Amino acid sequence: MNFELTEEQIAVRDAARNFAQNILKPGVIERDRDQKVAFDELKQLGELGFMGMMVDPAYGGGGMDTVSYALAIEEISKVDASVSVCLSVNNSLVCYGLDKYGTEEQKQKYLVPLATGEKIGAFCLSEPEAGSDATSQRTTAFEMGDHYLLNGTKNWITNGSTASIYLVIAQTDVAAGHKGINVFIVERGMEGFIVGAKEDKMGIRGSDTHTLLFNDVKVPKENRIGEDGFGFKFAMKTLSGGRIGIAAQALGIAGGAYELALAYSKERKAFGKEISQHQAIAFKLADMATEIEAARMLVMKAANDKDAGNNYDQSGAMAKLYASKVAMEQTTEAVQIHGGYGFVKEYHVERLMRDAKITQIYEGTSEVQKIVISRGILA
Ligand code: CAA
Repeated sequence: MNFELTEEQIAVRDAARNFAQNILKPGVIERDRDQKVAFDELKQLGELGFMGMMVDPAYGGGGMDTVSYALAIEEISKVDASVSVCLSVNNSLVCYGLDKYGTEEQKQKYLVPLATGEKIGAFCLSEPEAGSDATSQRTTAFEMGDHYLLNGTKNWITNGSTASIYLVIAQTDVAAGHKGINVFIVERGMEGFIVGAKEDKMGIRGSDTHTLLFNDVKVPKENRIGEDGFGFKFAMKTLSGGRIGIAAQALGIAGGAYELALAYSKERKAFGKEISQHQAIAFKLADMATEIEAARMLVMKAANDKDAGNNYDQSGAMAKLYASKVAMEQTTEAVQIHGGYGFVKEYHVERLMRDAKITQIYEGTSEVQKIVISRGILA
């Protein structure tokens, strides 16, 4: 197995690291406090090519591999997981879905502005009664001649108000269950499409999460992606790749907290020496480093599987399951190492601990990952 990164992968990682440390870090506490989206910074990330990293260059993308993408998400997440979730959804759900399954017209009209960062995308699957149980879609889109009439409500939609292009999953044939589900491209501004309430969240507070309402929205027929009935498989296939992005995000959150704890432990003195010199802390750091390295192996394995053309449903789910657990546990340890300082916002680790939790919930809870993994094992 080759554990070495290529020169190009190292360059992408370093560019993301510089951007995160120099551009994102200065305002991250304020954005978290005020629930402010990093619009200017996202625009810059678009100009640098981070919004459509894996998209074919013919459609404005970077043509990069999944390993580079995971490295970039990891570095950005060390500092600002609110920015990285926006990137992750845009890259691995919306851009990937259009790049892989869209028509030439759909790519020209929607993928190009998304990949160049001119516009931002959102992926709309979750509903009040369809979270883990994603086949239970209540949103409907019935065929009416040259268009579909879309009605329903979507919940917890990342980039809800920042986006202007939305991939919306809906039931087109109720009797057909998951085989009667389709996915549609919906544009901001279409009549009857309302961006509803914004969630006041525990973590990733600098990303906007909204309820979306669709009231008799006329979606042109040419905005359906793929064959009739392909919507559920589309969602599952894109989410398999999305989970690699969230696994990389969790890895970055854990790594960011670890780096802060390590630095703090070498500065802070107690009982006559740096706290890193006390075995109680040194052993915590040893455990943190080991757990994070193990999570990195799983993330890189999943990214490699995708790049090699192997099936990555299992490895992506394993990477997300494990990295999100590591993120939750190791950010908690980082707060503990900081003691009282860890509990105040100025030291960053409490935010990373709050941000970690969502990685065990979105793009499939840990329980959903276990469904995917166990089905693969038992098949
Ligand atoms: N690729 C292709 N097809 C797949 C697939 C995959 N990875 N996984 C399932 N399918 C197909 C199955 O083959 C089956 O098709 P057939 O009947 O033709 O064989 C069909 O899809 C239904 O599959 P299941 O019977 O396995 O479906 P299920 O109801 O048992 O559910 C599940 C499986 C894994 C729990 C799925 O519902 C799931 O992933 N749920 C979680 C949804 C989720 O991740 N939501 C996140 C929302 S997006 C988000 O969070 C973005 C954000 O804002 C950050």
